[in-house]
Amino acid sequence: MNADGITMSYLTHLECSRCGERFAADAPRNHECKDGGLLFARYDLARLKREVTAADIAHGACSLWRYAPLLPAADPGNAVTLGEGWTPLLKSPRLAQRLGCRELWVKDEGRNPSGTFKDRGAAVALTRYRELGVKTVALNSSGNAGGAWALYAARADIACVNLLPSDAQPASRKHCSLAGALTYLVEDWHAAGRFVAEACAKNGWFNVCTLKEPYRAEGKKTMGLEIAEQLGWRLPDAIVYPMGGGLGAIAIYKAFDELRELGWISGGLPRLIVTQYEGCAPVVKAFEEDRQECEPWGEISILPGGLKSPNPPGGRHVLKLMRETSGAAIAVSTDEALAAVAEMARAEGIFACPESATTLVGLRKALARGIIRAQERVVLMSTGSGLKSIPSLPEPRELLITSSAGVV
Ligand SMILES: Cc1ncc(COP(=O)(O)O)c(C=O)c1O
Repeated sequence: MNADGITMSYLTHLECSRCGERFAADAPRNHECKDGGLLFARYDLARLKREVTAADIAHGACSLWRYAPLLPAADPGNAVTLGEGWTPLLKSPRLAQRLGCRELWVKDEGRNPSGTFKDRGAAVALTRYRELGVKTVALNSSGNAGGAWALYAARADIACVNLLPSDAQPASRKHCSLAGALTYLVEDWHAAGRFVAEACAKNGWFNVCTLKEPYRAEGKKTMGLEIAEQLGWRLPDAIVYPMGGGLGAIAIYKAFDELRELGWISGGLPRLIVTQYEGCAPVVKAFEEDRQECEPWGEISILPGGLKSPNPPGGRHVLKLMRETSGAAIAVSTDEALAAVAEMARAEGIFACPESATTLVGLRKALARGIIRAQERVVLMSTGSGLKSIPSLPEPRELLITSSAGVV
């Protein structure tokens, strides 16, 4: 415990998910495993199990920091926080009825400070990188992560460099520029990751692109911890997740593995269903062709915003997770996604971004194809608010009052 009575981290080391090679966790580290391994933070779960109970967590902060023992910050009392996490898991009976499934929940990540789940990764990683003395972070992102990192970096007093696609949503661009992040718009999005890597090597910046470092996953892991806790330390039967680089899905399942090792949950893992837009669907293609790796996607044709990941760094890992859990990858058209935004708003009052609404379409298709059964308990990951996508949403239908007669 620190002086404020906050439980400190049980972080022990970093480990490659593929070859098991271990690294000290006392310095910022980028990882390039030639076999596609990812660098994961590891904890002393045996000691944590003796010293912390699931019931202790229930008395914690109403933010993701309630899980501080399972996070990498040496002193969570110094967290870089804007109040992220502990978002509601909304029971959605009308949507369930429309789809013909027994129990449906929506994890509403749009409530996070910048409007998406990307805040979780930024808060936890920047807390750790401030402890490790990082001065400048750099990343490419389809927009939402860039906005989140710009705001949290400002909060952390760390400089942030952002590469965004030239069609990034205005909300994300304004988050970046108003928070003082050095922001570039990139025309050839396929080259963005290389541009970041080269700029980091040249300028000594730290590369925080998706799955290049271990701590963003630790922040996003808290979505999985919350789902388990909010369901009474039980897991759902299926999770539907809108996939870009894959970090969020990988992190949620890392959380489930840790909870199982702690003995706080039992039973099998939920079926993982991922959705992608038809116009950038490398994971769907690899899944349907029964391949272990994604091939880079050619021309991207999707709405501005998330899911613009033509060569997803988490592709191999997510393909494995889907196969291990009898899940699937499902492609969704942009028209279907936009219609689903309206359906979620009308049926349940949930104002999701189109990326998130792909999960509703995906669930409907998964039910029709028999991948998910009607009696299963399903969680849709609504990763961001519709407020971040206003220019993409259908024009409102309004009536104009033109005379003093008012509403007729
Ligand atoms: C709103 C939204 N949902 C989902 C994703 C996909 O996230 P990930 O890269 O973790 O798969 C992104 C980013 O691309 C996003 O901005």
